[in-house]
Amino acid sequence: MIVPCVRPACADSDLPDIARLDASSNPHPWGESLVIDALKTRKNWLVETADKESETAENQMLGWLTASQWGDQSELELVVVSKAARRQGLAKKLMNEWLDFAKQEGVTECLLEVRESNVGAIHLYESLGFELVGRRKNYYQTEQGRESAYLFTLKI
Ligand SMILES: CC(C)(COP(=O)(O)OP(=O)(O)OC[C@H]1O[C@@H](n2cnc3c(N)ncnc32)[C@H](O)[C@@H]1OP(=O)(O)O)[C@@H](O)C(=O)NCCC(=O)NCCS
Repeated sequence: MIVPCVRPACADSDLPDIARLDASSNPHPWGESLVIDALKTRKNWLVETADKESETAENQMLGWLTASQWGDQSELELVVVSKAARRQGLAKKLMNEWLDFAKQEGVTECLLEVRESNVGAIHLYESLGFELVGRRKNYYQTEQGRESAYLFTLKI
């Protein structure tokens, strides 16, 4: 039986798979040097398949979440799920892992910024209780020009 499981990412051994996921499924890829920096300096989790009936089957990495933390605040930097594995609740699993961990660490507020065109991600954040608290006009570069960022927070 194949089940998805979430675990903390390992900065060295998980780098190749995370860099591949960033390149293939992030619409605005970070590139390897930013991925390395995130794995070294932030909190990171990944979701992968685990075949419970085979000890030899290789796990397949399907998603990655990276977040920063300062004192009682934590900020989502990126959550990305493989294009082939979307709408199966994997991003939600990663988000809940981050929120549970942050709460245990004494964080009281989680923050994030998202492109206003990213309707899927906005639905995901709202489904977890995040509230829209602001908008940064023309914050992100797009192929056509610029677009605004929405700012969301969640008290935990
Ligand atoms: C945004 C993203 C991470 C969602 O991953 P996912 O694993 O497909 O999300 P989930 O299956 O956990 O979705 C949970 C809920 O979020 C909402 N949601 C997710 N994707 C959605 C979409 N494309 N359209 C509308 N709602 C969506 C739904 O409410 C969904 O619940 P439902 O499937 O029961 O309706 C994924 O589309 C992705 O990797 N996008 C590219 C990277 C990105 O934009 N990241 C966010 C900015 S950092």
